[in-house]
Amino acid sequence: MGYTRLPILDETGYVIVDSYDQSVDPREWLDVEYVDWKSSGDTRFAPLASAYGDMECNGFWNHTPPKTDKDGVWVSKNVADAPILTRRAQEPGANVGRCRIIELQPNTYADAIYNLHRDDNNRLNPEGTGWIVRAFFNLTDDPDSVMILREDKDDPATETRIPLPAGAQVILDTQRLYHAVWHPGDEPRYCLITSYESGPELDSWINARRPIPRILSAPLDPEFAQSAYAEARARRDARAAALAAKGADPSFGDGTLRAGAIDEYESSAEVLSEA
Ligand SMILES: [Fe+2]
Repeated sequence: MGYTRLPILDETGYVIVDSYDQSVDPREWLDVEYVDWKSSGDTRFAPLASAYGDMECNGFWNHTPPKTDKDGVWVSKNVADAPILTRRAQEPGANVGRCRIIELQPNTYADAIYNLHRDDNNRLNPEGTGWIVRAFFNLTDDPDSVMILREDKDDPATETRIPLPAGAQVILDTQRLYHAVWHPGDEPRYCLITSYESGPELDSWINARRPIPRILSAPLDPEFAQSAYAEARARRDARAAALAAKGADPSFGDGTLRAGAIDEYESSAEVLSEA
């Protein structure tokens, strides 16, 4: 039966729409409450919508009862402190799942390559309904930072780097594309991330904002890039070895992987790097 999808994402899996004028809005992302989701010193999250309205950011499927990444419940305290961001998240009129503000500390290109991951946000999503995609609304002005996207995690030729000035608005199929943000600089980056159900509402919202489904990335110095790839590969190998030592097969290849190890493996990538 399949899912309802957005045709504009067919080609590349991403689409950039008109920027939002962030300059006149208050910095609501500094007023909300952040939670330490799992353990990472690199990111914090402030939920605007969570599975059942609590001040937490866990995957909706990790609750009782589990649910797919739709029908998020607004977190009253943070919604009260961030009314404009809440309104922006609701503006497309599509079903909203997880909605949160991410705070990302500065990192390197190698960090971002190491952190490339795909989301699992269609887990439990019933066929015949809309495929869940994510919107990234950049809040701080980070023109030198980029959202790194790859169709193939290990093939730099498939990489796109989308600049993230204030107000940048990008919709991604995060279950299709590997993604992570490279954020140089010395201040944290803040971004509003919202899960939406694909359908006519989101399609109309995108099409009313001059969508661009493909951009050319600014080139990287080849030597710099190669050294980052080598560093990322070494760190991935070390992580795989550490997991193997615990009895997990990070290749997921032989059926011996413990369920807990899968969660650990996935969360180690996603927590560190949620774009
Ligand atoms: Fe992600």
